[in-house]
Amino acid sequence: MNTFNIALFGIIGASLLYYIYIIQYTNSVPFQLDEIQEKEQEARKQESGTKNYQIPNFFFITPWNKDGYKLTVKYAQKIDMVSPAWFNIRYNNVIDGRQSVNEQWMQEIVQANPQIAIIPRVQIELQQSSILQQINNPQLLESIINLVQQYQDKFHGIMIDTPYLSYIDALDAYDIVIFLQKLKARLNNKMLVLTLFGIYDPSQYKHSTLKKLFKIADYTLIQTYDYQIQDEEDQILSPYSWIQSNLEHFMIYKEKLLFGLPFYGFKKTERDKTHFIGNELLKLNASNYLTEWDRSSSECRYKNELISISYPCPDFLVQRLDLIKDFRRGYFVWEGGQGIELFYQLL
Ligand SMILES: *[C@@H]1O[C@H](CO)[C@@H](O)[C@H](O)[C@H]1NC(C)=O
Repeated sequence: MNTFNIALFGIIGASLLYYIYIIQYTNSVPFQLDEIQEKEQEARKQESGTKNYQIPNFFFITPWNKDGYKLTVKYAQKIDMVSPAWFNIRYNNVIDGRQSVNEQWMQEIVQANPQIAIIPRVQIELQQSSILQQINNPQLLESIINLVQQYQDKFHGIMIDTPYLSYIDALDAYDIVIFLQKLKARLNNKMLVLTLFGIYDPSQYKHSTLKKLFKIADYTLIQTYDYQIQDEEDQILSPYSWIQSNLEHFMIYKEKLLFGLPFYGFKKTERDKTHFIGNELLKLNASNYLTEWDRSSSECRYKNELISISYPCPDFLVQRLDLIKDFRRGYFVWEGGQGIELFYQLL
């Protein structure tokens, strides 16, 4: 074979490979809105199957997006931990939300996956002026322990959510650590899950504080969504490079960390910007939107002249799941009721 032939066959071979790649790729990961809507109809007829990503996961669900109950039961085999956002503690240290507890859903999900852990969220509303007073009030600890004891046979732990944990060093609120240590000790074998904002700046948390928090918690959730938008860049949900820098930043910690993936988005018009969920995506008239891939953030937008919708697409999810898996970490989802079944099929 002369040089010309080698080059020619090389080109043909490469084109063929590229063609096969494109065919496979477009078959497995729909991109345009009409494809996504079509594949979603297929996904709804399919069974859950088992996990594609053999890494730990954690799903929030809420009583206000009720699809989360249905979807987490259907896909229970793919879910390790699920956290219904039922409870709230106000300044009086009394727990609100027992009326939201969904007993029937708990029965169904445990039946669908007996290994699943139910770890409800308790949101603690703190006031900056009285944060230490509230944290140091023994009533707070007792309220949480009472709740866990009341559902002793049903809850596998508790997830504590307060934004103040993310400002722990700025507040010098070291009492928070003591409070969490006491709480963990009182939970006996039940799990404690904490959450922190993703990092923007390497000095955001003190190494010594993180070491303590991660040691107390069974899992810590790093919120790699709700990206703090800078100026005109208000289309961004969760840039890929930011998740990557979070994974790198927390690499030195050996404890169990899960990184956040959004199942929500937002819709921007000339007038305003509103929250946007999967059900709304499925109702759009696909012929009026083009899907755009933003290379700088690795995010999808569904656009026309008037509207720009930032909402995860299958590529968005797959890229982030691959990345998290490469770092041998797990992921968590905010929140199950806002996603589409196509997403669950990919997990
Ligand atoms: C979708 O939009 C196209 C183009 O604007 C229009 O012709 C069509 O009737 C719309 N379909 C529905 C179901 O509204």
